[in-house]
Amino acid sequence: MFKLTAKALACALSLSVAGFAMADEPIVIKFSHVVAEHTPKGQGALLFKQLAEERLAGKVKVEVYSNSSLFGDGKEMEALLLGDVQIIAPSLAKFEHYSKPIQIFDLPFLFDDMAAVDRFQKGPVGKELLTSMESKGITGLGYWHNGLKQLSANKALRVPKDARGLKFRVQASAVLDEQFKALRANPRKMSFAEVYQGLQTGVVNGAENPYSNIYSQKMHEVQKYITESNHGLLDYMVITNTKFWNGLPDDVRTELASIMDEVTTEVNKQADALNQGDKQRIIDSGRSEIITLTAEQREEWREAMRPVWKKFEGEIGAERIKAAEAANQQ
Ligand code: LMR
Repeated sequence: MFKLTAKALACALSLSVAGFAMADEPIVIKFSHVVAEHTPKGQGALLFKQLAEERLAGKVKVEVYSNSSLFGDGKEMEALLLGDVQIIAPSLAKFEHYSKPIQIFDLPFLFDDMAAVDRFQKGPVGKELLTSMESKGITGLGYWHNGLKQLSANKALRVPKDARGLKFRVQASAVLDEQFKALRANPRKMSFAEVYQGLQTGVVNGAENPYSNIYSQKMHEVQKYITESNHGLLDYMVITNTKFWNGLPDDVRTELASIMDEVTTEVNKQADALNQGDKQRIIDSGRSEIITLTAEQREEWREAMRPVWKKFEGEIGAERIKAAEAANQQ
């Protein structure tokens, strides 16, 4: 009897302490990601923290965890849904279990350049995809660029048949899996944190990444060649837990949304320069040779990978693909 009362008392006490704490203490936002700090996403997360803590001083505290230090990319989505982390920014390749149409961003050779990507993301389909997962508890806050991907291997890849039989690390994406199968190469799904070691030990022979990810993970030290193929996109959707977001006090949510817009503009303005800087650093390191393709060679890669589109047209929607292609023409 006494035991129960004591327990109930303790419980009531801790509830009131929690209530008190909630009124006075800042809301903690954990922002977890898998890349290094000196990358578009790494920099964006830090800028978001800086602005949020400046403009919502005392109300919000942002904890940034980089390099998979809190959750790796196999776990971060689950952690977001469980409320263990409040913001993550997975690459667009990592949403297939939540939204099939988001697979559009991984179709090889879909976008001519980052300006086209930008137009598409800001257009009606891009906006529709940001809100397409709300019923699953995921709210999209914006798209952050990293950039276009380059192929790398210990063998010079100039034409598609050079990739035949090689093992390539892929993100957990059916589209990317098919892309390498179309080359008659062997795709192997692997989390980002394992890529360097996978390449170093020969579990995989090659990979596809933007320069910023290659350089910041030192992949160029374990890949003799990088082919500047620009064959696909690596961008992010910054997402939050819908229940958490809608439960924030109105003034805090409005301010955070406006900060996120500002950070998005900044990340997307800086991403290309960051990638180009890292490309130069790779060249300067002398560790990896960058192969430039002729127009004819690039066309061969496009032809080889293009059959992937048809396979995913049903899940993505032909109209959405048309809208993305139209973004190249504007
Ligand atoms: C990858 O797994 O290659 C990327 O999604 C990592 C990242 O977040 O840039």
